[in-house]
Amino acid sequence: MKRIGIIALGRYLPEQKITNADLEKMVETSDEWIMTRTGIRERRVAAVDEKTSDLAVKASLDALNNSSVKEEDIELIIVATVTPDGPFPSVACLVQKAIGAKKAFAFDVSAACSGFLYAMTTAKQFIATGMVKNALVIAADRFSTIVDWKDRNTCVLFGDGAGAAVLAPVAEGGILSDVLVSDGEGAPLMYVVSEMNRTPRDQNVVEGKLPFIIMHGQDLFKHAVPGMAEAVNMAAEKAGISLDEIVCVVPHQANDRIIASVAKRAGIDKERFFINIDKYGNISAASVVVALCEAVESGRIKKGDKIALTVFGAGLVAAANIVEWSY
Ligand code: ACO
Repeated sequence: MKRIGIIALGRYLPEQKITNADLEKMVETSDEWIMTRTGIRERRVAAVDEKTSDLAVKASLDALNNSSVKEEDIELIIVATVTPDGPFPSVACLVQKAIGAKKAFAFDVSAACSGFLYAMTTAKQFIATGMVKNALVIAADRFSTIVDWKDRNTCVLFGDGAGAAVLAPVAEGGILSDVLVSDGEGAPLMYVVSEMNRTPRDQNVVEGKLPFIIMHGQDLFKHAVPGMAEAVNMAAEKAGISLDEIVCVVPHQANDRIIASVAKRAGIDKERFFINIDKYGNISAASVVVALCEAVESGRIKKGDKIALTVFGAGLVAAANIVEWSY
């Protein structure tokens, strides 16, 4: 069985910050409420002329700059996003054109906050079968376009950003196991009301307000904790490693309290979790890859370390991977 791993990472976070103090001026909230309930201090928001594809391109160029693979040699591009520039063309095709990856075929994956791991696992299969030699896997989301900035239940939670990884066969380490779990029964717990799907049942629909997010936060919390904890446990079992061998867990960054509960339930000390939610909030699919990028850059993850990635999102969808770091 071919070893396939991440050989380079990159990220892009828009410059503009919205702090909790800024939000205090926009809705009835407080820095104290947001910090204690979520752990978020500030989040980034894309400029008006910065589309999801622009974020994706910038993260991709950063990853490629850190890699030995050239743009023109990329054979597959997958973008995980739920906030594409439009229903079509795919963000992946826009990235392909922008970076000049002429050889690559390109498509998007929709799995909300779990999107990066769904896309990475998909890309891994294409490399494993020999259909492609490498892949550029990107997660990019721009929730600022779908958040109702008057709804304090949701607007404090999300931010914009993108992360990217180059995948290829590796001599040592690599992705040791993959777990993907979906439960469509939970779809009503979080969805976007837009012109495309509005129905008379959507009581909250107000002209001029679309799109906006409906989120049942407490119910999601209750699903997210076992979802991420069990995915990590399953991924470790599939990889044939004990939890003690996991040097670092990089989780989806939705809420610091969710991460604490996942740590407890999974039986892994919270100290081993990498957390950067304070800086960016929940950047959906991009959360886990941006966090992974920062964990590697900061030296928290080193060559040979066994790490876990675990995510949860609207769908409902969860995923986890065990990776032995290759560089
Ligand atoms: N500021 C001040 N008060 C607030 C705010 C705010 N920003 N938001 C809600 N409140 C109020 C509520 O109105 C409520 O008031 P009430 O008691 O008078 O009714 C009170 O605070 C408590 O609200 P809860 O919803 O019970 O607060 P909770 O502790 O559950 O925290 C939160 C809410 C942060 C949303 C939490 O439930 C959570 O993180 N859930 C998971 C959400 C999540 O992960 N979403 C992303 C899914 S992933 C994806 O695919 C995008």
